[in-house]
Parts: sequence; structure tokens; C-alpha cells
Amino acid sequence: MNKTAEVIQKYYNPFEYASPFREGAEPESIRERYERIPTTIYPTAAEAVKKIAQQIAELIGKKAKSGEVCVLGLATGSSPIPLYRELVRLHKEEGLSFKNVVTFNLDEYYPMEPTEKQSYVKFMHEHLFDHVDIPAENINIPDGTLPVDKVTEYCKSYDAKIENLGGIDFQILGIGRTGHIGFNEPGSLINSPTRIVSLDPLTRFDAASDFGGEENVPRKAITMGVASIMKAKRIALFAWGEAKAEIIRKAVEGPVTESIPTTFLQLHPNTNIICDFGAAMELTRVKHPWLVGSCNWHPRLIRKAVVWLCQTLDKPILKLTDSDYREHGLSELLEEYGYASTVNIKVFNDLQHTISGWPGGKPNSDDTTRPERAMPFPKKALIFSPHPDDDVISMGGTFARLVDQGHDVHVAYQVSGNIAVFDDYALRFLDFLRDIKSIYHIENFDAEKLYGDAVDLVNSKKPGDIDPDGFKRLKGAIRRGEARAACRYLGLNEDHVHFLDLPFYETGKVKKSPMTQADVEIVKALLQEIQPHQIYAAGDLADPHGTHKVCIETIIEACKQLKNEDWFKDCRIWLYRGAWMEWELDMVDMAVPLSPEEVKIKRLAIYRHQSQKDMVPFPGKDPREFWQRSEDRNHATAVLYDKLGMAEYQAIECFVRYDYFI
Ligand code: F6R
Repeated sequence: MNKTAEVIQKYYNPFEYASPFREGAEPESIRERYERIPTTIYPTAAEAVKKIAQQIAELIGKKAKSGEVCVLGLATGSSPIPLYRELVRLHKEEGLSFKNVVTFNLDEYYPMEPTEKQSYVKFMHEHLFDHVDIPAENINIPDGTLPVDKVTEYCKSYDAKIENLGGIDFQILGIGRTGHIGFNEPGSLINSPTRIVSLDPLTRFDAASDFGGEENVPRKAITMGVASIMKAKRIALFAWGEAKAEIIRKAVEGPVTESIPTTFLQLHPNTNIICDFGAAMELTRVKHPWLVGSCNWHPRLIRKAVVWLCQTLDKPILKLTDSDYREHGLSELLEEYGYASTVNIKVFNDLQHTISGWPGGKPNSDDTTRPERAMPFPKKALIFSPHPDDDVISMGGTFARLVDQGHDVHVAYQVSGNIAVFDDYALRFLDFLRDIKSIYHIENFDAEKLYGDAVDLVNSKKPGDIDPDGFKRLKGAIRRGEARAACRYLGLNEDHVHFLDLPFYETGKVKKSPMTQADVEIVKALLQEIQPHQIYAAGDLADPHGTHKVCIETIIEACKQLKNEDWFKDCRIWLYRGAWMEWELDMVDMAVPLSPEEVKIKRLAIYRHQSQKDMVPFPGKDPREFWQRSEDRNHATAVLYDKLGMAEYQAIECFVRYDYFI
């Protein structure tokens, strides 16, 4: 790997994290000046939880030796799952025993039967208790089945039981987007005990996919109080992914306030926040490191600082002055480059060179400052799309250009996307078959029965029920047809469209399995078959159900395993962002401008995904349709370039080059 690539990888690889500070210059005082809770950032959740699991294991062992019980406070939700996985591993592979462990869970929905799919009792057994040797009587989870008039008394006894055991030794927490810990929603007081609470609308919204719709999410819960949590001897709070970045910044850097109960942890003497790079993204030390300490001014960090300065002052790059730099914590840049104008021109050119209407490279032209090499031409480009519509939503304009400019484009849809089709929408297709049968005089095909059975199935389904295989496959087929229609519209032959149906996705539930080698093999086989010069993939770590994250991990793992192949040495990987976010400008390596006509073509390609239009089962927090989000986002990028003093385009699609393998 050459030096530049190494530095880029270190600082700007979206999947790695390293400090942007000069060696030895990471200020000790971050804690006092910005971060009011000690926070550690890890490249991945798996790496982060290893350390905590080890600490828990040591604590359990120490307590066992002295004949004491070890009291753990446990959370549910997605955040602690990697920790539970590691604890189970420690039990199975390294003999960690839970015989002396007593657990208290933070919360439970109310009302809630322990046998319900969404109960936290079910969750804890599935993820931890059923796989370790904890005695059943040592498990405590708030009881969601009690009559209302018994709840207060019960909550008191829950706190008393913890107290009698000497308090919680190690408390695990997640953080909700409202800033809740446990279900202590905004407004909870620092001295609040275990009690019944009303859930915040945002919390209910976030839980909607587990319950098959927001309307099915309970309105109440029993939660351990803030006071009960604050009495724990040690607390570790986990946060993974960009969706948590904003609330983590407020919790760690903001003032203590009951409107963000997590901020109370600033007053706890032994709390650590453990997060991955995504969740840390909004922290000042990551977002604006120059405000925190002396930086290693790599070109991308300079770009980041200058774009920030332009946005702060609402000025284009070439109009920034020495005093603008000096007055905004960027004197260090002037010390390095002498004058503002030198830095300005450097960044202006750097950004200018990201813009290219030739995503596959411009044949027979000087490519020294272009993001993509001119030759070979035409290139074989393989676009990986996690769900069947991400390709057109996130890079539909670039997709169209690649085809129009004569490249040999293939698209691979990684997962079937079958859970995102409404029952009612699927029924329409079976209904349609009833007519088709008579139009084409098809015999031996009982369309009436097929339709009737499906209607019965839909009518008897309960929220969160898994579809039988046939119905699931029908939904997958609907999405496949839509993807083929979009590809056809963009001029791609059907034999260039690949459906991988990666197995990790096929749980029938919102929750997916982790990636396995079986997924990787499927991706590898396609890569070997096509041997592309360009790979486009969704470098998106923020989708609500984690599918995109597994999809990119699968591609990266496949590339790692193929990196010694000859063709791979001449292959570039371009990451686009999924439907939820755009790359920060400092990371962008290629910006493909779109004309108003191209924006329209892209929109019409997105329209082909009709099952995802108007109303989708899992819309995320954004009420806009996918085509609207995509247009707004591409337009916003164009405005950003314009405001920085570049040319004014209608829309721009952005890509980051993943050069880990160079
Ligand atoms: C769960 C709990 C909640 C979650 C929080 C984050 O027992 O008390 O505070 O920790 O809502 O949920 P995830 O981890 O799913 O993002």
C-alpha cells in the first residue's frame, strides 16, 4: 500500500477509525473541554465488546472466588447483542460460568406476556440465558403481566431486591434516540425509582418494525429508574451506528438535563461510553478535531476544515481570508501553508477534481486529475445493490451514464427485500393471476385456490408473524420483477441482472442473521464470473435494520479473499451511500453531476419499484418517498458545490473510493 493510500485508509476509510491528531497530541483534556463522559471509539462493535466482556468475565470470576454473587444489570435492544454473543462464546469456549450471576433487566413493555415474540423475557433467553448456565431463579426481568394496581408495589420490591444484593456491580446500557436509558424517557428525574412509564412517540416509532406497525407497540413499560441505574458501581453504555451519532453527542458533550436522561451519566463516577465510529461521528473530536487539538493536516482533513469554514461563514472557498482561518481555530493551517489563498486554491482544485461526468473514466483523455482512469475502455462495472432498489435510488444517474457511455454494466441485487412488501400488495398479484388464467386459457393451475389460501393466510396473520415460504417468495418475486423493470428502463439486458438472495437475510423477520461464509461464497462466485474493473457498493452503515451493513461486509470479505486475483488488481471499488444519508463532502472522491433530464430518468427508474412507493412497511423516520429523498439529497449536494464556488449543477451523486486493498 502506498503512503497516501495508507493515510487515507487510516483517516478516511469509513470502516476504520484512527485519531486525526498528531502523534502524542490527542489532548487529555477532551474530557473536561468537550466530553463529559469518558468515551472510547472502536472500529467495530465486535472489537469493542470484547474488552467489556473480558471485564465482566473477570468480575464474575473474582466474585466466584470469594463466594459472592455478581450482580449484572442488563439491557435489551440491538446494542447489547454483540456483547451477549461474546459472553456466550466465553461460556462455551473458555468455561466462563454464570452460576454465581444474578441479573436484573432494565425494563419490559407493559402489558406484555413473557411468551410474546416481542417480550424482553423472550429476547434475553434467545440471546443469552438459554446459552449459559445461569440458574433460572437468578434472572430478574420486570413483570409485564401484573394488574395495574400491583405494579407500584412490585417496582419497589424490584429496587429493594437489587439493594439487598448489594447493588448492581456492572450495568449495561443502550441509548434510545430520545436519549433514554432503560425506558427513562425525556422528563425523567435523576431520583426516579423503578416505575411504570409512558413511552415516547419516537421510541414507539423505533420499535414499530418489531411489532408489525407503530399502532401495535405498547404505550407503557416498566423501567428501572434513573436513580436505580445511577447506583450501579460501574456502567458501560453501548452505541453503534450513525443513527445514534446525534444523541451521543448531546449525551457526551451537552449539559446535564432531564430532557436527555443519558446526560445524568455525566454525574456518575464510573461510566464509559463505548461506541463505534458511526456513533462517534458527531463528537467534536471526530467532526471538528481542529477545535480540540493539534492535527495531522492530511489533504482530506484540510478539505473537511475548509468546507466547514465556508459553511460556518457562508462564503465560497476562494473568498476565505487569513483572519477567517485565524478566528475559527485554523491558525495551524496558516502556519503550515503561509496564506489563506494557498490553502483555498489547494482545496478548490482538490474538490474540482472530484467532479466527473465520466464515472467509468473518459476514454482517450488525460486522466491525471480525474477520479477514474481512462483505460481500459469499455469497463466491466458491477453494481451491488443491497435491496432491489438501492441501485437506482442512490446511483440511478451514474448507472444510466455508465450504460450510455458504453460500459459493460452488471447489477447484483444482494437480498430479496421480501419483508418490505405489504400483504395486500402481494395479494394483488395472485388476484391478477386469476384473470391471466382465463385470458391465456391456462389449464391445471388453480389460481382461485392460490388466491383464496393467501387471503386466508393474510386474514389470520398476527403482527410480527413470519410468512410461509411460498408467500415470502412471492414477495421476493414482486421485487425482482420491479428491479428487472428498472434495469430494462435504463437499457440493461436481463442477462446482466443478478439476484443473489443472500441467505443471511432470509429469516422472514426484521432481525437478520449475521454474515456467514455462505453469503461470501455467493458474492465471490459472481465477482469471479464477471471480473469487474469497477465495483459499486452501498457503503451504508446506517440503515435501520442493518442489512446494508452486512451487505457491504460481505463484499469486503469477498474482496479480501480474492485480493490476489489478477483481475482484482485492476479493480476499483466505489462506495455510494444508501437511501438514508449522503457522504460528508470531505470524504467524496467522485461527484457525478446530473442534468435535469437525468434527474427525471432516475426518478422514473425509482418509480419502477412500485411496491416501495406511496407507503412502505419500514419507512424509517423520514416521511418522504425514496425518489424524493434521493432528489433532495442529490440537489443539496449540487447546492453545496455551488456555494463553495464550483459550477452550479441540478444534482450530484457522490462516491467514496474504497482503497483498502491498494
Ligand atoms: C432496552 C432499553 C433501551 C435500549 C435503547 C436502545 O432494555 O432499555 O434503553 O437500550 O432503546 O435500543 P437499541 O439498542 O435497540 O438501539
